[in-house]
Amino acid sequence: MTPATLARPAHSPGATLADRFRAVRAATEALCSPLATEDYVVSSMSDVSPTKWHLAHTSWFFETFLLAPHLARYETVNPRYAFLFNSYYVQAGERHCRAQRGLVTRPTVAEVYEYRRRVDEAVLSLCNEIGDDAAHPAWSTLELGLHHEQQHQELLLTDIKHVFWTNPMRPAYRATAPAAPVASLQGWHDIPEGVYTIGHEGQGFSFDNEGPRHKTYLNGSALAHRLVTNAEFAAFIADGGYRQPALWLSLGWSAVQDGKWRAPLYWEQHDGAWHEFTLAGGAPIVPDAPVTHVSFFEADAFARWAGMRLPLETEWEVAARDFPVDGRFVDAGLCHPSSGGASGMQQLYGDAWQWTGSAYVAYPGYRPSPGAIGEYNGKWMCDQWVLRGASCATPRSHARLTYRNFFPSDARWQFTGIRLAKDV
Ligand SMILES: [Fe+2]
Repeated sequence: MTPATLARPAHSPGATLADRFRAVRAATEALCSPLATEDYVVSSMSDVSPTKWHLAHTSWFFETFLLAPHLARYETVNPRYAFLFNSYYVQAGERHCRAQRGLVTRPTVAEVYEYRRRVDEAVLSLCNEIGDDAAHPAWSTLELGLHHEQQHQELLLTDIKHVFWTNPMRPAYRATAPAAPVASLQGWHDIPEGVYTIGHEGQGFSFDNEGPRHKTYLNGSALAHRLVTNAEFAAFIADGGYRQPALWLSLGWSAVQDGKWRAPLYWEQHDGAWHEFTLAGGAPIVPDAPVTHVSFFEADAFARWAGMRLPLETEWEVAARDFPVDGRFVDAGLCHPSSGGASGMQQLYGDAWQWTGSAYVAYPGYRPSPGAIGEYNGKWMCDQWVLRGASCATPRSHARLTYRNFFPSDARWQFTGIRLAKDV
């Protein structure tokens, strides 16, 4: 696959709903083009879903929440697929055990692609009925389904990376030409003390957890211009960062012991030098590139070691709103974080998601949607942390200023990095 095949604009201006649907569905399948059939079936840990499951689950989502209620006389492709491909929607019925998704050899990969074809035909038929009527009751669900599929495009890449890393053959997903490393001096973006309004506004798409828009008070602070680099994180390791309990939250220290963590996920030391596994295979770490595949616990410990802290998500949003939603997304074809520019605020989007020190909780006045679709975001507002920005695996048209990603404290298999903050 070339970067050009990844760069298909999913939400380009003037595109019809049908155009956008075709583009998103095609982008998912383009991500699969480097894979062999055997690669589609494996799950390497409970957080990782097989590629085949992602392809089918995103189709089940359209069937269940869009086609069944909105397309007259729609008949599901196979009634038994709902049990296999419902992820976590309790109100949508019984479902298969997540940890056993990698044990499912049937339906075959070919049958799953046929499932997608059948769902595509039905959705495009519904698009004809909807036309350009944004007030049609199916419009917002179709839009949600598109963004849901884009989320799974990112998961597809992070999951297959873990699958390949687990394989002793250490196969590469595909060769990439890394961006030229750029040494970047650290600078700081000031956020004056004050009352700010945050959260999504306007007509464009957002997930329900990005609102309601509301006021928040911030003390004066400053956010780092760029992400923490591999070289900086290697210095933390060399200073005994993983061996100093005073740097860690209690649960984080337990995670270090239980997981025998000595470095970020995918880092290995060869002849005293750090290497990391990437989607292009193993390679020496690039000192100026952002560290990635660190957990919240590691990000928090690093910040403490550096004498700073993680930004609040509100601070991040206030700082980022002065800058365009731009960066190295999956569309760039790099599939790995790259070093920033020489100076100025950078890497807000693309490269690596940024852990914040904000617990993932509801904004004031938040109400999830009624019914099973309300389980999308609201029920996860417990024991997780907000990440802001986007990563090298995020589609460009999926990124937004107000986007609230979230993962548990010990999650390391996503492209997660660190932006430091300090009080002023
Ligand atoms: Fe999903």
